[in-house]
Amino acid sequence: MNYSLAIIGLGYVGLPLALAFGKFFKTIGYDIDLRRINELKKGFDRNNESSHNNFVKSKFITFTNEKNKLKNANVYIVTVPTPVYKNKKPDCRLLINACKLIGKILKKNDIVIFESTVFPGMTEDICVPILSKTSGLFLNLDFYVGYSPERINPGDTKRNLKNIPKLVSSSNKNTLKIIYFLYSKIIKAKIHKVETIKIAEAAKIIENTQRDINIAFMNELAVLFDKLNIDTHKVIKAASTKWNFLKFYPGLVGGHCIGVDPYYLTHIAKLNQYKTKIILSGRKINDNMYKYIIKKLINQLQKKKFNNKIKILIMGYTFKENCSDIRNSQVVIINNSLSKDYIVNIFDPLVYNNYKNKIKNLIRKPKKNYYDVIILAVNHKVFLNMGINNILKFAKKKNIIYDIKNIFPNYNNSLKI
Ligand SMILES: NC(=O)c1ccc[n+]([C@@H]2O[C@H](COP(=O)([O-])OP(=O)(O)OC[C@H]3O[C@@H](n4cnc5c(N)ncnc54)[C@H](O)[C@@H]3O)[C@@H](O)[C@H]2O)c1
Repeated sequence: MNYSLAIIGLGYVGLPLALAFGKFFKTIGYDIDLRRINELKKGFDRNNESSHNNFVKSKFITFTNEKNKLKNANVYIVTVPTPVYKNKKPDCRLLINACKLIGKILKKNDIVIFESTVFPGMTEDICVPILSKTSGLFLNLDFYVGYSPERINPGDTKRNLKNIPKLVSSSNKNTLKIIYFLYSKIIKAKIHKVETIKIAEAAKIIENTQRDINIAFMNELAVLFDKLNIDTHKVIKAASTKWNFLKFYPGLVGGHCIGVDPYYLTHIAKLNQYKTKIILSGRKINDNMYKYIIKKLINQLQKKKFNNKIKILIMGYTFKENCSDIRNSQVVIINNSLSKDYIVNIFDPLVYNNYKNKIKNLIRKPKKNYYDVIILAVNHKVFLNMGINNILKFAKKKNIIYDIKNIFPNYNNSLKI
């Protein structure tokens, strides 16, 4: 059988996947964003996750925003976003649109694999009926589906698509073999066959929810230990000497995975008349962490009697380290809040090129001896490499350094969470 793939949605997840498959199979990279397609045709990834060389090596890939080109594929992989609405309910519109699009061109024996993060049951209960209705075809008679959640970690140079273990699941045993075969071409790590699609969906969603809850626990402890005048990071270091202590750190939780996925789980729980207790408490703690950080800073400003026009430098604007993604970044909220009362500059070399014309206080380089406050908001490697002494050069003599991520644990004059 000759497999011809189409990847639907070429963002952080879809592009690396499309480029990897494009080394071995005829692959169509499809996105509704024409600007993105034009950039990709030139071998440029604005997310800085795929190098020009990755494009060169992907010999069988073509990029398009034309729906009719998708007809040539027989395996569709869906990697569109699954965000939440303002009220935190799952916003499935993009996934539904992608299903409608595929449904219109679906042929007998085609396979549709979903990689987007969803709640358990979404593939079979929401996506399959749309595919069937729009195509007039029947699951496991005419077409087949699979679910293989993505686990990539943008900004992480060690763990990547190739070496992260992959889960695969399918509506049908034979299709599972095909899906396994396809992924085994691009993934060198273990590929784990999961018994059902629902188990694979649930596995993905709990991976991120577990992380959210663990960070929330550390955030709660950090607030408590602050009151007790105990250094949280030193407590974690000490506790980590025990074999079964899980090492998590306090901090801001943003982005479109950890801060979002738990709501997919609580949504399906609610639909099944089950009120979860831990998951949403964790979400609440993490979502309020920015308030605690701002309050702590303002207290220090008052305590140290800073009363002139305070200038603040925020270093790092993304939702996590070493990536250029600012979606749902809690630092954005901190900036918006502090900018109301203070002069705030943002310094983030990973974000500068994409946003220099969109974020008015984003600067290319900080001034020397200029800032009263420096907030080290994201632990980008570039900041670590600069070293605390170079960073201190941006600050006035009387200053507050707020090292939210404890990038410089040995610098004792900084505020920590
Ligand atoms: N980014 C991550 O680190 C990560 C990791 C694991 C899982 N995920 C999950 O993977 C999914 C995709 O996330 P992402 O970060 O890659 O999103 P993204 O926003 O980076 O990219 C999504 C792309 O899909 C395109 N798109 C939207 N609707 C489309 C449609 N109907 N047809 C074609 N293209 C369409 C958008 O234009 C965009 O380019 C989400 O469910 C997310 O939760 C993300």
